[in-house]
Amino acid sequence: MTHDVPSGDLAAELDALRAEQARIRQSIGQGDLKFRHLARSVFRVTEQERRRLARELHDGVGQKLGSVLHRLSQLEQSDSIAAPLLEQVQTSTQLVRDCLQEIREISRLMRPQILDDLGLVPALEWLLRTMAQTHGFVVTADLQDPGLANDDDLGTLLFRVAQESLNNIGKHSGATEVVFRLGGKADRITLLIADNGQGCDLEAALAQGSNGESTGLSAMRERVQLFGGHIDFRSAPSDGMQVRVSIPRSESNLAPPP
Ligand SMILES: Nc1ncnc2c1ncn2[C@@H]1O[C@H](COP(=O)(O)OP(=O)(O)OP(=O)(O)O)[C@@H](O)[C@H]1O
Ligand SMILES: [Mg+2]
Repeated sequence: MTHDVPSGDLAAELDALRAEQARIRQSIGQGDLKFRHLARSVFRVTEQERRRLARELHDGVGQKLGSVLHRLSQLEQSDSIAAPLLEQVQTSTQLVRDCLQEIREISRLMRPQILDDLGLVPALEWLLRTMAQTHGFVVTADLQDPGLANDDDLGTLLFRVAQESLNNIGKHSGATEVVFRLGGKADRITLLIADNGQGCDLEAALAQGSNGESTGLSAMRERVQLFGGHIDFRSAPSDGMQVRVSIPRSESNLAPPP
């Protein structure tokens, strides 16, 4: 069966449909922008909270433990202290010293002061040094300064991706060598983290993420996508792991939605 529709009406209907389509596309685009803005605000607030907790741990608990340590050391050095007591004081001093070191370490990993004070490149240099020492791998690093402001969310994102990838290398790979590259091109910032460890079955690893068992890889992917970027994981058993990230610079100051 055929319908006789005057061609003028059909053209008008098509125009109306096209206009409607454009309107829907625009509204989806705005919805996406609003969502990304909101999710990035949550990311920012989480980081602010980590910064506050890190300072409280360092300056509050850390300083109090520091003064306990000072008093114990004075006691240890006093002539009037009896030998059996001295041994107890020495054990306590060592316990407080270990505790203080752990608190400082947790505080730094929670939000390293160096990231806020000196920016991304010095913070990455510190992270690489610490991780190499802790896990016993050798790092070959090439860090180009992308020139981000110290409080730029993009810097925090890149730092967190590096931190999670290096943690994974330390925990799962048994790698002896790590290659780390930060590149700052005109339009995008790139990151490569590669290890020579045992690698893994990526499909299985990412499936763990969707079951909520392991969140590291999936959280990295979600955050990078939030910044309009792309993250690529490559690995095969006994072939190490590579993490490649590319984020457009324009995301550094994403305009708020109207
Ligand atoms: N560099 C790596 N070398 C070998 N296996 C890796 C590497 N990185 C990740 N994996 C594998 O991928 C899995 C998922 O990693 P993911 O970071 O998502 O979780 P996780 O490290 O186990 O836990 P968390 O949620 O604390 O990060 C790991 O359990 C590990 O098997
Ligand atoms: Mg992990």
